[in-house]
Amino acid sequence: MKILEVIKEKVMGFPKGFLWGGAIAANQAEGAYLEDGKGLTTVDMIPHGEKRMYVKLGDMYPVKLIDGENYPSHEAIDFYHRYQEDIKLFAEMGFKTFRTSIAWARIFPHGDDEQPNEAGISFYLDLFKECQKYGIEPLVTLCHFDVPMGLVEKYGSWRSREMIECFIRYARVCFERFDGLVKYWLTFNEINILLHSPFSGAGIAFKPDENHEQVKYQAAHHELVASALATKIAHEINPLNRVGCMLAGGQFYPYSCDPKDVWLAMNKDRENLMFIDVQARGYYPSYAKKVFKEKDINIEIQTDDLEILKKYPVDFISFSYYQSRCASADPSRGMTDGNVVKSVKNPYLETSDWGWQIDPLGLRITLNYLYDRYQKPLFIVENGLGAKDTIEEDGSILDDYRIDYLRKHIKAMKDAIDDGVDLIGYTTWGCIDLVAASTGEMSKRYGFIYVDKDDQGNGTLERRKKKSFNWYKQVIASNGERLD
Ligand code: BG6
Repeated sequence: MKILEVIKEKVMGFPKGFLWGGAIAANQAEGAYLEDGKGLTTVDMIPHGEKRMYVKLGDMYPVKLIDGENYPSHEAIDFYHRYQEDIKLFAEMGFKTFRTSIAWARIFPHGDDEQPNEAGISFYLDLFKECQKYGIEPLVTLCHFDVPMGLVEKYGSWRSREMIECFIRYARVCFERFDGLVKYWLTFNEINILLHSPFSGAGIAFKPDENHEQVKYQAAHHELVASALATKIAHEINPLNRVGCMLAGGQFYPYSCDPKDVWLAMNKDRENLMFIDVQARGYYPSYAKKVFKEKDINIEIQTDDLEILKKYPVDFISFSYYQSRCASADPSRGMTDGNVVKSVKNPYLETSDWGWQIDPLGLRITLNYLYDRYQKPLFIVENGLGAKDTIEEDGSILDDYRIDYLRKHIKAMKDAIDDGVDLIGYTTWGCIDLVAASTGEMSKRYGFIYVDKDDQGNGTLERRKKKSFNWYKQVIASNGERLD
């Protein structure tokens, strides 16, 4: 009887202390791209418009700024100068946590400088202290799509082993200097995206005639070792530090029960999960050898590497979730867009205006799947609807479509917790409007807070609350109970 009661108590929705909040990334929000000593990063080289994909995918070599192009990261939403105003608004919504990233090139402008840049450190000290003022726990990504260009030019980015040393030096400085202010860390944002968007994901620009698969998987191995070593250092510096990996999530469903579709969907999932398998379990999964063989690649793994991976797995698993995906062995099936990875169109799902398939139940499925597979705490660090907003005559922004999307996803999280999943937090993506990573648009908005800026870069940057602002405030205040 007693045991039953305990179990019953555990399945009553969001746990106490659940980390509600929102997420942004330095490269999509800060702007001030060369201020206070910051060096150029990969994202600073990616223009809005026609040439965007060419640079993002790593087809431009060597990478150069092009005259006359619009580079959205250079100003972004000017969070660098307006963070106090923005954090105040997050606090008003009741945020318990705020996810952002550190721009590596603010701390090490070239990536491998002798000494860190004190001006960069002081910016983040002030930012994290500002969060602390309101009792907001920062959740910090060390590398969110912004490798210093100095390292791209000198080493060809993550294709080279030297990057491991540069990254852990940078990570150590962050853990030491922000100790006591930051406890939750993520090493690489959407680590699996380097396979699909190599330059934006990992600073890889391909030289002519290079074997792309070889370069990508070698780079991935270097990131995995760097991530494990950073986890080690974080724990040494402060045993209270919690380090997570970060996956671009969303499962592949088989289009039909044809075993060929099921097999394909499983393998497409494995392609992404291989990273998390290594980071969470501490070793390459048994299917990795076959993958490397089929791709005809040879990854250089040094003797100590496997030991490092084994000894320093992550403490928790974080992921982004925008949509589920679908796979079919029949190549004639229609495709739709998604978060970097394209998918077969699922006839049961609606899509956003950008073709991303909307699937709240898919979030419950993903949460259950990841928890079954890894048995480590989960953290949803990105979720939301990119949509066009309209300002009404009275100045209001009635974003009911966003509320509807979030409501259904939060309900799915609650269901997953009731299923037994250990979910520790939720940060919606782009809690304040920011530059879209895929398209470079401002008009693809995710925020509870509107930012006055258009796709061409015009606007006052003024902030304005949307209808969803008060809605999310109520969600947080009720610990996820009031979703109306
Ligand atoms: C994830 C990234 O891929 O999706 C974010 O981690 C990105 O940086 C988000 O912004 C949403 O994608 P988009 O292209 O709509 O900005």
